[in-house]
Amino acid sequence: EAFDVTVVGSCMTDLVSQAPRLPKAGETIHGHKFFIGFGGKGANQCIQAARLGAKTAMVCKVGKDFFGENYIQNFKDNGVHTDFVGQTSDAATGAASIIVNDEGENAIVIVAGANMLLGGEELRGALPAVSRAKVLVCQLEIRPQTSLQALRMAQENKVKTIFNPAPAIADLDADFYRASDVFCCNESEAELLTGSSVANVEEAHRAGQELLKRGCGSVIITLGPQGCVVVKAQGSSSKHVQTTAVPAVDTTGAGDSFIGALACYMAHYPTMPLEEMARRANQVAGVSVQTVGTQKSYPFKKDLPAALF
Ligand code: RIB
Ligand code: NA
Repeated sequence: EAFDVTVVGSCMTDLVSQAPRLPKAGETIHGHKFFIGFGGKGANQCIQAARLGAKTAMVCKVGKDFFGENYIQNFKDNGVHTDFVGQTSDAATGAASIIVNDEGENAIVIVAGANMLLGGEELRGALPAVSRAKVLVCQLEIRPQTSLQALRMAQENKVKTIFNPAPAIADLDADFYRASDVFCCNESEAELLTGSSVANVEEAHRAGQELLKRGCGSVIITLGPQGCVVVKAQGSSSKHVQTTAVPAVDTTGAGDSFIGALACYMAHYPTMPLEEMARRANQVAGVSVQTVGTQKSYPFKKDLPAALF
């Protein structure tokens, strides 16, 4: 069976509290709403790609618990192939405690749990889904070595790779760059990886060039309401792709919506310029920030303008 997009990555149950602001250390504050949702960067990206019409497979591990069972059903409800979703009784399904303030900003603590037990053995079992995908996507909420192995497996099989170094680690193994056709991160991740400030478009261009030098095919640095910067090895051009301003209610998982959309475009329109894919992916992510929640705010193809397809 062939897939448009295969994601090797994380699943988390999102425990979300909306509050006027983020609490300080030692402080208790009143929030106004609590809800539980499906999250985790890997799964979020996979679900967004699926909702835009990509044929998707997820390679991940959840616990043999209530949250894990629920998560598998969530994949099925979204049409994601689940043969490579493993369950373990050795750890709990990953969980994310999230606080969203009135500006739509968030602070997140993840306890990866079962996600950390995804390893080489599961990857070898998932070879059919990795080698027969058009695009493979990885992040850093599972063991970094598992992500790197998946990216390499994809490249050996001529599958295009998108790597999202999130959450970022300062001492990222240099091999990740060489294993990434598209290296896509946000401004704070770019800052951590390059060690220099990425606070505006100008600095993003510079950081993008620096990351590109480390060996990836292309670099995208997302900049929230400022759109993104796309840097391509080919001609080493660096372009700022602007986006339309939208009222942000909850930006949690907007970056994942962007990457899921990008993966879908890369699979469906392999010859489209990367800047154009990024422009469209920005619009998809822009829809997600206008309603609360992570996956539950991700648009379906039928809800979006036809011009995006
Ligand atoms: O990128 C957003 C995601 O990060 C949330 O869904 C949460 O689960 C954390 O993994
Ligand atoms: Na949202």
